Amino acid sequence: MTDLISIARSFFVPGKGILAADESVHSATARLASYGIEAGEEMRRQYRDLFLSAPGAEDYLSGVILFSETLEQKGNDKKLFSDSLAERGIFPGIKVDLGTEPISTSPQELITQGLLDLPERLIEYKKQGAVFTKWRAVIRIDGDELPTASAIHENAKRLASYAKDVQMAGLVPILEPEVLHEGKHSRQKAKEVLVETLGTLFSVLEENAVDCSGVILKTSMAISGDKNQKKDLSPEVAEDTIAALMECVPRQVPGIVFLSGGQSTDEATVNLAAIVAKARELQAPWPLTFSYARALQDEALSVWQGKEENKDAARKVFIDRLKKVSAAVR
Ligand code: G3H
Repeated sequence: MTDLISIARSFFVPGKGILAADESVHSATARLASYGIEAGEEMRRQYRDLFLSAPGAEDYLSGVILFSETLEQKGNDKKLFSDSLAERGIFPGIKVDLGTEPISTSPQELITQGLLDLPERLIEYKKQGAVFTKWRAVIRIDGDELPTASAIHENAKRLASYAKDVQMAGLVPILEPEVLHEGKHSRQKAKEVLVETLGTLFSVLEENAVDCSGVILKTSMAISGDKNQKKDLSPEVAEDTIAALMECVPRQVPGIVFLSGGQSTDEATVNLAAIVAKARELQAPWPLTFSYARALQDEALSVWQGKEENKDAARKVFIDRLKKVSAAVR
């Protein structure tokens, strides 16, 4: 366990964070299609190469979360992505959940799949170079109806089982109970759901004797839903997000990372800076950093458009965004 604790801590080098490059085949294909890029396996490999092999990314990244397809792929330098990341001092990790399906008793809510053969898969992922893992649960807000307490609890139980298996396999688990940004809800509602979700998660982790000093929490920010007219100010987001975290997250958790959740790249950067500043002001016990997918990749994708001749310009945009997000957490 001592090793896991020190690996978990070493993600939080000042100014560094985690790139979430773990979109499933389905999501990556859809993401590329939204930029007019038709994607088969080779195009998805080039998409990963654009980001994972970008020179200089190692100055801002302590880890990258990969999808299983990418763990087996090589970059344009003919090295496995996991090997070249490790050579550059970036921990390779792997998304291990197998996506979500509707809950039979509450079909508008989702439960995450993938526990059944997880211990066997973890042995393989570890052999392939993974140092850490991620499991994403999805919590949806809709008026006063959703989320239900039972959806939050079921997802927390699966996160706890996942965390135990992963620690047992000698890997660091990232626990991502994502409270979705989609919806009309207020920031206050998002905060309440964040408190309920994280409070439930940490009490279920305790009941299941998961050692919280060897896990990383990946969380949403407390922000108004994307269909709410109200635009949150970053100090408001910071205040509510840190209040929720202070209420629920034990101090022995080695660090907390944020997802961007569909915020614009600038919003995700400015909000993060305000959250980190607030945490410092209140002497929050854990280091905080980013673990973004869209907010790090979107600008570069729109420059790249799947074309080799745009690659250098796209990488420059990616590194520029990394610099801004890194400055936000410094
Ligand atoms: O599962 C979601 C990713 O880990 C974070 O993605 O930053 O685009 O919300 P995002």
